[in-house]
Amino acid sequence: MTVRKVVKYGTPSLREKSKEVHKISKKVQILIDDLYDTMYATNGVGLAAPQIGENLRIFVIDTGIDAKSMNPITFINPKIIKKEGAVNSYEGCLSFPEAYSNVRRYSYVKVKALDIKGRPFIIEAKDGSLLARAIQHEFDHLDGVLFIDHCRNRFETDKILADKGLSPTDPNYLLDEKELEEEIQKLPPVEEKKVD
Ligand code: NI
Repeated sequence: MTVRKVVKYGTPSLREKSKEVHKISKKVQILIDDLYDTMYATNGVGLAAPQIGENLRIFVIDTGIDAKSMNPITFINPKIIKKEGAVNSYEGCLSFPEAYSNVRRYSYVKVKALDIKGRPFIIEAKDGSLLARAIQHEFDHLDGVLFIDHCRNRFETDKILADKGLSPTDPNYLLDEKELEEEIQKLPPVEEKKVD
């Protein structure tokens, strides 16, 4: 049971591609426990292993809002096998303290992963739900992708980052998501919900 230090934006390891897990060893189990302890201690909705300095393909999510609705899900070696639709998501990240920005996400994802016992499972997350957005956000961390790479307005995001004393977006990492952006523009405006 350890609350680990969360690696902050600007640390090179956040841009690395993480390695697959080959064996769910005791060390991996401890890492997963630490991910949960750290996520709950920092009031996050999700946390990926690279954010606590371990470049392994593991993340945890809990979209429950209180002790009664807790729903911890562990994803090991996840693969997004289907994605559809588009949403505007107002997101933050524990590696970017207090900085929130509008990003593009798919509204639906289907993911295949291994659970804590190494058993494969498939999960679907629909309708631009918090779970759908959190899965994409955490999955990105395993490939060294950060939420700001999906930003809808680079200049607005740079201003938000500057206000928090963080470095601006890097054009080399910005993702070209024309189709998602076109779909988002056709949507009626929605209430903004934060994803950490
Ligand atoms: Ni994050």
